[in-house]
Amino acid sequence: MTIVGTIPRRCVNLPPGSLHTLISCSAGGRLQEGPAIEKFTRAFSDWLGVPHVFGAGSGRSAFQLALQALDLETGAEIIFPIFTFPVMPMVAKLLGYNPVFCEVDPVTFNSGPDHIEEKISDKTGAVLATHLFGQPCPIREITELTQGRQILLMEDCAHACGVRVDGRLVGTYADVGIFSFAEGKNMPCFGGGAIATADDNIAGRASEILSRAVMPEKGAVWKKALDIWLKWLLTRPEIFGLTVYPLLRLKLLMGQPLMDSTVGDELLESFAASNPQVEHLVNLQAEIGLRQLKRIDAFNQGARKNARILTESLSGVSDIGVPQAADGEHIYVYYPLTVTPDRRDALRRHLLEHGIDAKITDMSDCSLLRQFGGAENQANHRSGPTEASILEICVYPVIPERHIRRLGQIIQAWAQG
Ligand SMILES: Cc1ncc(COP(=O)(O)O)c(C=O)c1O
Repeated sequence: MTIVGTIPRRCVNLPPGSLHTLISCSAGGRLQEGPAIEKFTRAFSDWLGVPHVFGAGSGRSAFQLALQALDLETGAEIIFPIFTFPVMPMVAKLLGYNPVFCEVDPVTFNSGPDHIEEKISDKTGAVLATHLFGQPCPIREITELTQGRQILLMEDCAHACGVRVDGRLVGTYADVGIFSFAEGKNMPCFGGGAIATADDNIAGRASEILSRAVMPEKGAVWKKALDIWLKWLLTRPEIFGLTVYPLLRLKLLMGQPLMDSTVGDELLESFAASNPQVEHLVNLQAEIGLRQLKRIDAFNQGARKNARILTESLSGVSDIGVPQAADGEHIYVYYPLTVTPDRRDALRRHLLEHGIDAKITDMSDCSLLRQFGGAENQANHRSGPTEASILEICVYPVIPERHIRRLGQIIQAWAQG
């Protein structure tokens, strides 16, 4: 069994010394409240170049904060890309808004102004432009569209922290930018999220909402941080090869599920049942965030370098789709490999047998989910990107280039075989 050169489905990108930060924050009574929160939000706002940043407990909590701060009329329509992380439109639905889905480009997975314009009505209150997988959407053109129509614009930068378009960071183009510091993203901070805005009115309302927001319990902060730190440890490629990887191979052999996350309808049911509230970013997360800001650009560069190597080795390989960089930078927070849906599981098995743990995506075609009218939408459904054709590959710089080259050869041989 291959244990050298294994690639985990996601490598948790914590900065060095994170366990020490956890222990010292805990010993000093600075897990929840503390001075780092103010320092981090100021540093993040300087880095982005926007006047206001507010921390939140997660990306979805940040989105809830943003939506509440926009103060749209109840029942207003919010336009989302049809192919996205379905919890985001669910947040809007739970707040009494009406999610409307626009098509996405089959190659970039992102929506552009034409897709969005098709769905604008007199009830449209806002648009959530999303930079999926680390690829920027045509944000300048979308901004022109929404400004011309006086519709509020938000940017989902959960996969795009550090992406620049024309030298300007995404999350700063819209009325509000939304960020996630969850473990599977490029800037994990033991969880957390943030919103950024240049609008003083939105900022005023966000600040007021946060003054009534929930502070996570100390035990919950500890538990989550420890869990993420353990995932960091187990996703160091060498440790992964000796621990989780053999377990996955055993599961594969026994025909058991491969530790996949809950997605689609099931994910939305459990999210709705959790009665989501806006939560605070905690001091521990802010301390990690301060350190992450110093390394995020170099980290993104490393992922792009690995992605380039993989793309070069797979271009022209029949039946395998590789991400096509469009406008601005792609930082490959996830590298979406595409293959026909009927062959995806075979490719995943083949890769796992050769030491590469590819991930089934958490993104969904939202129009087909029960919460968004699934069955009724079937009749008018246009075929587009589907979760069933995607395998996410981790190209984070912790994976040596030679292992990325080997991965390219393995996929090539499979496609030609
Ligand atoms: C595109 C997108 N937006 C938002 C989020 C929400 O972020 P969080 O998990 O921190 O709530 C996710 C999470 O996976 C996501 O993939």
